[in-house]
Amino acid sequence: MDDLSVAQLSAESKTKMIEKLYFTKPLRLLFAALICLSSGVAGAQSSAPTMKAVVVHEYGGPKVLKYEDVPRPEPKENQILVRVMAAGVNPVDGMIRSGMFAKYEKDVFPMIPGADIAGVVEKAGSKITKFKAGDPVYAYVSLKNGGGYAEYAVATESEASQKPKLLTYVEAAAVPVVALTAWQALIDTAKLSAGQTVLIHGGSGGVGSFAIQIAKAHGAKVIATASTANQDLLKQLGADVAIDYTKTKFEARSYGVVKKGGFIVTIVGRIDQAELEKHGIRGASLSVKPDSGELAEIGKLIDENKIRVIVSQTLPLFDAIKAQEQVATGHTRGKIVLKIADEPK
Ligand SMILES: NC(=O)c1ccc[n+]([C@@H]2O[C@H](COP(=O)([O-])OP(=O)(O)OC[C@H]3O[C@@H](n4cnc5c(N)ncnc54)[C@H](OP(=O)(O)O)[C@@H]3O)[C@@H](O)[C@H]2O)c1
Repeated sequence: MDDLSVAQLSAESKTKMIEKLYFTKPLRLLFAALICLSSGVAGAQSSAPTMKAVVVHEYGGPKVLKYEDVPRPEPKENQILVRVMAAGVNPVDGMIRSGMFAKYEKDVFPMIPGADIAGVVEKAGSKITKFKAGDPVYAYVSLKNGGGYAEYAVATESEASQKPKLLTYVEAAAVPVVALTAWQALIDTAKLSAGQTVLIHGGSGGVGSFAIQIAKAHGAKVIATASTANQDLLKQLGADVAIDYTKTKFEARSYGVVKKGGFIVTIVGRIDQAELEKHGIRGASLSVKPDSGELAEIGKLIDENKIRVIVSQTLPLFDAIKAQEQVATGHTRGKIVLKIADEPK
């Protein structure tokens, strides 16, 4: 294969690999920001207005997700309060809920899960310059300020961007975490350029469906993997070559198929330095972080019709258990989104 950059997106030995990845320094520090909850949820004034939210009071299986009335967050001077129309569901939401990372970082209960939101700015803090009340936004919010499975959530200017105009709120909520992961893997880390070839594992899932389209929009040739049922989707998303991983075991051979000088990015495990050296290639592990500028660039590609968003299932907020159970299968086509309010007219 030519000039191969590999975004390794599949689920290899899931728990172990993810644990290693998320808590390999310096990734551990970054992830800590994701799993700490602020006292904004637990310690809000009792006189504050309330909202519906999905709340976790203790680590456990999906059933610890409780649909409850909780205090509505109040934005600080550097935050916007967003009336959340829809919240995206990611595999990591269930991992945090289960306590997978508790031995590294203690969470503060009660906590509201969810990093992806799309909604309308309700109120802007005094130091906010980019947004005003009424603006449609989407954001990758920090759990330390309260998560997205709720009627209201707060975000900073560096976490939020204007919602792409072509998208509904449900579609927009499917974008931030996975699209930023794909962008940061391909563009920031592997420095993908036109004419290169990219192998994307798990091309039909949340991250992979964006990775295929971002790579194509940057002029790359794309080879993508998924199971038999999703071969058609890989092609529809723009993959030049679709590989059925149930017939051709590919992901374990990533190091061996990359041309000398090529680059591997893994989002599900620690990069193997010895393998990189053996094959004369470079590589890195990635832990996604919020980036409003990149969200704006992704939104531009969406509004130019270069990226489309696949939402395979929309569920009401009170069905968060079902949503997380489906996402935990590791076989979601595109994304699952919790719809929290009707689209504003
Ligand atoms: N490091 C980070 O910052 C970061 C950020 C986001 C996500 N992640 C992790 O990256 C992984 C993917 O996330 P996602 O949101 O895209 O998940 P997802 O939506 O569940 O997608 C999973 C993808 O993997 C494919 N897949 C499942 N089993 C496979 C196997 N045995 N071999 C090859 N491919 C397989 C699925 O295809 P089929 O359905 O066709 O089987 C699907 O395309 C998750 O483990 C997630 O936790 C990490």
